[in-house]
Amino acid sequence: NQIKFDYSKSIDFIQEQDWLQFESATRHAHQLLHHKSGVGAESLGWLNPGDYSQQKVIKQIQSVAKKIMEDTEVFVVIGVGGSYLGARAAIDMLSHHFYNQLPKEKRKTPEIYFVGNQFSSDYMTDLLEIIADKEVSIHVISKSGTTTETAIAFRIFKKFIEKRYGVQGARERIFVTTAADKGVLRTLANEEGFTTFVIPDDVGGRYSVLTSVGLLPIAVAGIQIEEMLAGAQTAAECYAVNDLNQNQCYQYASIRNALYRKGKIIELFISYEPSLHYFAEWWKQLFGESEGKDHKGIFPTSLQYSTDLHAVGQYIQEGQRNLFETIIWVENANHTVTIPQDQRNLDQLNYLADKNLNFVNKQAFEGTMFAHMDGGVPNLVIGIQDRTPFTFGQLVYFFEKACAMSGYILGVNPFDQPGVEAYKSNMFALLGKPGYEKRLLELQDRINN
Ligand code: PA5
Repeated sequence: NQIKFDYSKSIDFIQEQDWLQFESATRHAHQLLHHKSGVGAESLGWLNPGDYSQQKVIKQIQSVAKKIMEDTEVFVVIGVGGSYLGARAAIDMLSHHFYNQLPKEKRKTPEIYFVGNQFSSDYMTDLLEIIADKEVSIHVISKSGTTTETAIAFRIFKKFIEKRYGVQGARERIFVTTAADKGVLRTLANEEGFTTFVIPDDVGGRYSVLTSVGLLPIAVAGIQIEEMLAGAQTAAECYAVNDLNQNQCYQYASIRNALYRKGKIIELFISYEPSLHYFAEWWKQLFGESEGKDHKGIFPTSLQYSTDLHAVGQYIQEGQRNLFETIIWVENANHTVTIPQDQRNLDQLNYLADKNLNFVNKQAFEGTMFAHMDGGVPNLVIGIQDRTPFTFGQLVYFFEKACAMSGYILGVNPFDQPGVEAYKSNMFALLGKPGYEKRLLELQDRINN
């Protein structure tokens, strides 16, 4: 196992008594998860990655990805939330930092852009400009098939593709991932004859990156998806042990709850690698949507160090003491950058000459950790050796299972998101969607007064 979870920098916040309580809470929650007898049990398809990564689906994804790589210069991925963040996290974590700007001969795979995750007309216009003269394929992903951000973007890009390639040609370039047999996107895809992939019924959006939701775009980026699934499978075996003392995934779930009970209600997910930015976004959505309910839950947010130490470092050191940090540390960089000698040393940096940048990054990490601990901020460290598809698969599983466990410990259903509907019904009312007339009148009254 590549993941090392270290809570030694938070030990002062956890008493023997807490540990005993969590031993019994995790034992119970483990039974609920593995016997599928807890709340939301119908959404546990991700628990055994082997089940939904059957060879047949993987082969189909790989063959479609190969076809896309051959005839496509730009691949546009349309989706939001759990139907978007996992693929983006993987592609950003595992590819060149400037993937889309690399010369084609070097990248060998299509440029990849994401849309349908907001309503910005300027973003949409700029993207349409970027792809105007290129060979384009699109992948729309929506389990419900009705998400407005996604549906609007799909309508626009479908028209774009049909105009460019004709209705028949468009069938070769539009790929759809949605539920097996419900929703308007399923009906539309079947009617139009698009190639489709299924989001399993028992896997919710934010737990779906290792299904065709994430795996098709990831494969199109040239990333080894089989390695990723092997990582998830290894993690599934590793974190199947029902013993808090041996299961680091359950330790993470428990300790964040212990800290929460002591008033540490904000978790800062920290990374020192810009390539993990979208992994942090994925993590934030996973925990935020899973735990923030019934007026409970840790508020998950993320920061990029050392960048953000120059923005909110002061607050973390000396502001309100309601935070803890979870740091994801990548031990080995892919490249070595050595700081050069300079004879005149006018910048007085020769004390760092011949040192490599990753060494500097590590001292920044350790120095910051001890400074923040001294300031009263508990630190949890999740160490990985490197950024590989295998590690990505492991991390995904580690956090998904920790999130489910943590939700059960907290006493919420970690698989639903009832609160997301509130903004939608207001928005639908204001947009004039049929069926929302009464709500529109109420909102207009509030807007005008
Ligand atoms: O995690 C979730 O369930 C959500 O974030 C959904 O993925 C998101 O709302 C998109 O939903 P859909 O795939 O139905 O378009």
